[in-house]
Amino acid sequence: MKTRIYTEQDLEIKAVQDDIKKTLQHGGNVIFPTETVYGIGAYAFSEKGIKGIYKVKGRPSDNPLIMHVNHVDDVLNYTIDHKPYVDELIKRFWPGPMTIVLKKKSIVPTYITGGLDTVGIRIPNHLIARKVIDIVGVPICAPSANISGRPSATLFEHVIEDFKDKVDIIIDGGKTNAGLESTVIDATHEYPIILRPGMITKEMIKDIHKDVKESSLLDQSDIPKAPGMKYRHYAPKGDLVIIEGSLEKVLAYINQKIDENRSLGLKSGVICTMEIKDSFKDALVISLGNMSNEEEIASNLFSTLRTMDKENVDIIYSIAFDKGKYKDAMMNRLLKAANNQIIHL
Ligand code: TXA
Ligand code: MG
Repeated sequence: MKTRIYTEQDLEIKAVQDDIKKTLQHGGNVIFPTETVYGIGAYAFSEKGIKGIYKVKGRPSDNPLIMHVNHVDDVLNYTIDHKPYVDELIKRFWPGPMTIVLKKKSIVPTYITGGLDTVGIRIPNHLIARKVIDIVGVPICAPSANISGRPSATLFEHVIEDFKDKVDIIIDGGKTNAGLESTVIDATHEYPIILRPGMITKEMIKDIHKDVKESSLLDQSDIPKAPGMKYRHYAPKGDLVIIEGSLEKVLAYINQKIDENRSLGLKSGVICTMEIKDSFKDALVISLGNMSNEEEIASNLFSTLRTMDKENVDIIYSIAFDKGKYKDAMMNRLLKAANNQIIHL
């Protein structure tokens, strides 16, 4: 298969719109940027298109897909049993980086929900994503556009790395804004439960419902997590370890490890902030941004993990990004990428 590549400008051309529409209607896959990460899309009512996503990503079939729509009316058409707080969440955070899990109507096929009777739904806030949904006129299912287990793609180059000539169409939208996937909220209970932390934070949701819970803190016996959260994720090829503690200790520890690794012939990498990036020698050091600029830091995490791969780094040390408003989202992704390897100094 030869992938057709389009830009945002191309989406104004009728022939391109027709190509996108026909491709999706006939069960093809189209990758497009959203404000969080790139998504690999299929027509929600094409079993062939949905199966194609699972196959090309290598995604386990019990991991449900998020349905992307443009209007609140669509949400009401496909879901039932809204608690009053759902309307508030919608008003406050859509379009935006939030997915709401609701009881589905029977017209929503179970092949997109991994057999569940709920569906994750989201109204994205990105011109290209919205345009694609408009062109097709039906919900588009789109998981993050990465081979299963790899860091989500936030740059066009990374989409190409994973999917060139494996999908029909890729739309180049440059770098995505947020860089971490949407907050997933289970809204089927009396209170919202955060299944996956993101940039719509617990504190923001608390304004709407004071009893908001995090699934990681619940007794897991009766409340399911997002099925996707049980799989290893975001994993770079190098071994990633998070180092947490006072700055002085963290710097000393990482520098000592870099020395040890060098004598063993191993290449080290460091993920840190701008303020301390000159504190390391003989390693590939990547700053995610200024400590005070959390947006910048979040937007650079996944691309940095991929750069570490490209540079064949054997062991990666990351400082803990456990302060500020995105701490839950950042630490969730980092811990998964590190297979929970964290050293407390
Ligand atoms: O920002 C995003 O959410 C991106 C962009 C492309 O929209 N999409 C994305 O999709 O991250 P994906 O498939 O990589 O992650 C969706 C997560 C998974 O952990 C999945 O298990 C969970 O949402 N999820 C989806 N539907 C669910 C449902 N009905 N019940 C529980 N969890 C659900
Ligand atoms: Mg994903």
